[in-house]
This record gives sequence, C-alpha cells and structure tokens, in this order.
Amino acid sequence: MRNIFRKKALVIAASVTLLSLSASAAEVEVLHYWTSGGEARSVAELKKMLEAKGDKWKDFAVSGGGGENAMTVLKSRVVSGNPPTAAQIKGPSIQEWGAEGVLANVDDTAKAGKWDSLLPPVVANVMKYQGHYVAAPVNVHRVNWMWVNPEVFKKAGASVPKTWDEFDAAANKLEKAGFIAVAHGGQPWQDFTVFESIVLGVGGADFYKKAFVKLDQTALKSPTMEKAFKTLRMVRKHVDKGFAGRDWNLATQMVINGKAGMQFMGDWAKGEFTAANKKPGVDFLCVDAPGTANAFTFNIDSFVMFNLNTPDAKKGQADLASAIMSPAFQEVFNLNKGSIPARLDVKMDKFDDCAKKSAADFVATSKKGTLVPSIAHGMAVPAAIAGAMQDVVTEFFNSDMDSKAAVEKLALAAKSK
Ligand code: GAL
Repeated sequence: MRNIFRKKALVIAASVTLLSLSASAAEVEVLHYWTSGGEARSVAELKKMLEAKGDKWKDFAVSGGGGENAMTVLKSRVVSGNPPTAAQIKGPSIQEWGAEGVLANVDDTAKAGKWDSLLPPVVANVMKYQGHYVAAPVNVHRVNWMWVNPEVFKKAGASVPKTWDEFDAAANKLEKAGFIAVAHGGQPWQDFTVFESIVLGVGGADFYKKAFVKLDQTALKSPTMEKAFKTLRMVRKHVDKGFAGRDWNLATQMVINGKAGMQFMGDWAKGEFTAANKKPGVDFLCVDAPGTANAFTFNIDSFVMFNLNTPDAKKGQADLASAIMSPAFQEVFNLNKGSIPARLDVKMDKFDDCAKKSAADFVATSKKGTLVPSIAHGMAVPAAIAGAMQDVVTEFFNSDMDSKAAVEKLALAAKSK
C-alpha cells in the first residue's frame, strides 16, 4: 500500500507545482475532521483568527471520528496532485508524509514565534521532519478518561470505580437500576480507544510502552496482555445492543442525557458536554479510567503544511501557523475542544478543573515517565501497524475469540509493515 503511494509521489511532486500556480489567491484550504458540536465550535475559532489576518478559509471537512475517512480523502487528493494548504495530521504519520517529499516547512514562523522554547520537546519533536517544523500543534488531548454521569450513579447507588473489578460491580448496579452502563460506539478506533486505557490500567505505563510503543513481542503475548483482553471482554458485557457503528459523540449524548452512566473517551468528549452547557463536577465527572490515575495517554492534534510553491500559499501557511501558536488561539480553541494548550505558558485560569487536572498531570507524568503516546490516536506507531492491531481488537470485540488467540493475533499484527 505504502509502496504504491510512494511510486505516485514523484508524479505528485511535479504536478503539485503546476496546479498550485493556478490556485486562487490567499485561499487557505484546511482539511480536518472536526464535525461534532464541540469540534465544530473549536475549528470555527481557527477560521475566525485566520480571516482576521485577511486570508480566506476554505473548509475541507471530512466527517468520521478519529480521522480515518479524512486520511483516505487526503491521500487521494495528494496522489492526484492537488493537496490542501494544510491538513489535520498527527504523530508518526507526519514523518511518513515528510518522507514522501510533499510537506512545506514553517521554520521562519517557528523561529519568529520562538516555538522551540515554548513547546515541550515531546510536542516539538512530533512537529518536525528532519529537524524542520512542518506542522503546528493546536492542543494536547488526554485519552485515558472515563466520563461519568453522577446522577445516574446516585440513582443506582453505585460509586465511581477506581479499579476494573470495581468497574464491573458498578456497571452491574447501573444495569440493575435500568441504565446502560457503558455508552460505546462500535467503530474500530473507539474499540481501540477503550482497549488502550484497559492496557494502561491493567499493565501500567511501563508495560504499555513495551507493548504499544516498542511493540515488544514478549509483552504483546504476555499474561498481562491476556488479562487486558479478558477485561475488555468484561467491559463489552456492559455495552448496550445498539452500539454497532454508533458515532462517539452520540455515545457521549447518552451520558449527557442520563441514559448511560459512563463513557471511555478522550477529552474531546468534554467539548460535547460543554457545548450542551453541562458543568464539570456537577452534571458530569471526568475521572481517570480505572487503574490509570498515575499515567497520561497523550494525543496531540496538529496541522501539517503541504508543499505549494506560490507566495499566497506560503503566506496562508505562515498565517495559519502563527495563528495556531498564538496564546489567544490556544486558549479559546482548547476551552471549546476539551483539551489543553500545547504551549506550556498559556494561563489556565479560564479552564475548568478537568483541564487543570490534565495540565498538571501532563507535567507530572512527563517527569515520572508515565506520559505515554496514544496508539489508538496515531501517536505511538506507524499508521499501518496501529491499523492492523486495531483490527484485532475489533475482531475480538465482535466475536467470541479467547484472549490467548487474541494476544497471538495482536503480536502478529504488530509485525505488519
Ligand atoms: C481524535 C482527534 C480529536 C477528536 C477525535 C474524534 O483522533 O485527535 O481531536 O476529534 O479524534 O474525532
């Protein structure tokens, strides 16, 4: 798959230049997949800021949580020699795109804005290809959250679980009281999002890193990984019948409207709660997924710039990059998105307690060595490998595969190229 893409890259490089010369002036086409209520409010802030700089925002939204659809559309646009000005791409995929020779660098903007001193290295490194900035970070999302409706818990006489055993007990109580315990959307990336939190909770951060960052075969086939699959089977038991294909934000709605008690999702879910005027600590709780209190699974959204050799495109990219990194944008965008600023110097006083906890945990876990990249959100390993592993988790979720067979399959998937 990648090879086919590579062969086409030369053709692309030639045609990109030709096409971009005829592109209309100062139009900044931005591909993203932020189409839910909270997401749309967030991206609207970027549009506003870019237009304030005199540029024209051309929206290129491709719906589909987690961005899989968006990446498919992006590939075909690039292959046909017509990349957008910028696209929402993140993690190791930035390196893969860099290797195709289709990215533009924004070093001048980064230098003028002192990005190197403002961004923590864990963020800055992801934004660079061969030492040059090719992307601008908008945020840091935390993935290992569990979203709770406290009213539902109260009515069921259940307490918020801190371990997976307690989780099972609480979920049983919720169901006995007539609620859906876990709001889940059966899409592969959502299954994988739940599973990575389970692996972190069951195995701890060191185990997570061995299995999901180093792709260590022994860890992937270990009894600990088997236990994680057994835990996923237990969680699966607490999902309602209508889960298949459900979008993540509809699952969040189930927690918001009191149909369900919990959801495992990154803090983009908070954007849905706040868009619905719900207050953290009152209408909903953000708690660590069971067993993950001392760790942080990070997911950094960023915009990557494509190589379009016109002065207009360059101006648009510089404007976009500097808007993204401005403290004003980092604040307003993340207030809406549920995440925290990528810059460490942005004041947190307007943020809620969930974001404040996230910001404090980001720094603390980075010191402790328990800050880990989200595999489900493209932060840990190349997309092809993550995709193959994700498929195993989804197959397990939707069949009666036992955990022994699952670890063997997962370890094999981790070897895919
Ligand atoms: C994540 C992305 C978030 C959020 C979510 C659902 O991968 O980083 O910004 O949009 O998917 O679409």
